[in-house]
Amino acid sequence: MTPSGNVVGTGVDLVENERLRLLLEKWGARFRERVFLPAEQEYCESKASPWLYYAGRFAVKEAVSKAFGTGIGPSIGWLDIEVVRNPETGAPSVRLGTQGSELARSRGVTRVLISLSHTHHFAVAHALLMADATEELRP
Ligand SMILES: CC(C)(COP(=O)(O)OP(=O)(O)OC[C@H]1O[C@@H](n2cnc3c(N)ncnc32)[C@H](O)[C@@H]1OP(=O)(O)O)[C@@H](O)C(=O)NCCC(=O)NCCS
Repeated sequence: MTPSGNVVGTGVDLVENERLRLLLEKWGARFRERVFLPAEQEYCESKASPWLYYAGRFAVKEAVSKAFGTGIGPSIGWLDIEVVRNPETGAPSVRLGTQGSELARSRGVTRVLISLSHTHHFAVAHALLMADATEELRP
């Protein structure tokens, strides 16, 4: 069956990779642990240029927070949005933590879809919030 639903939120974010490199250089583990889950850190740290991958995940978190219209803050924190990588395809998806799931439930959001991309200089991410359709479109 084809998944169906309504788009109930959208967010996009563009990050300068150099900004992440400087934040990591300045704050190190303090920044990493405040913003990224252990599995996210493990993936980024496995790369030759970790900041490029941190930048992509940072962009996803901000894009999701914009899709909810809350920004990162009391309603949804950095660690409430985890970027999970499909080990077979490499495709990213989002897992919401307790607070994020509660926010999603309160909005009727049943799925969060994301896409991310990076170049040497920038990372960009897009998020869509979906709610299950209550009525199927009929031909
Ligand atoms: C909402 C948030 C993600 C915006 O991100 P940003 O990097 O500051 O700004 P961007 O340039 O990516 O986006 C700005 C646009 O986001 C939009 N925006 C602002 N607040 C928003 C919200 N609550 N929901 C959705 N979109 C929002 C606006 O359109 C804004 O553009 P405008 O000022 O021209 O209208 C940001 O305010 C936030 O919550 N950041 C986390 C704060 C933090 O802890 N930072 C420390 C880094 S460790």
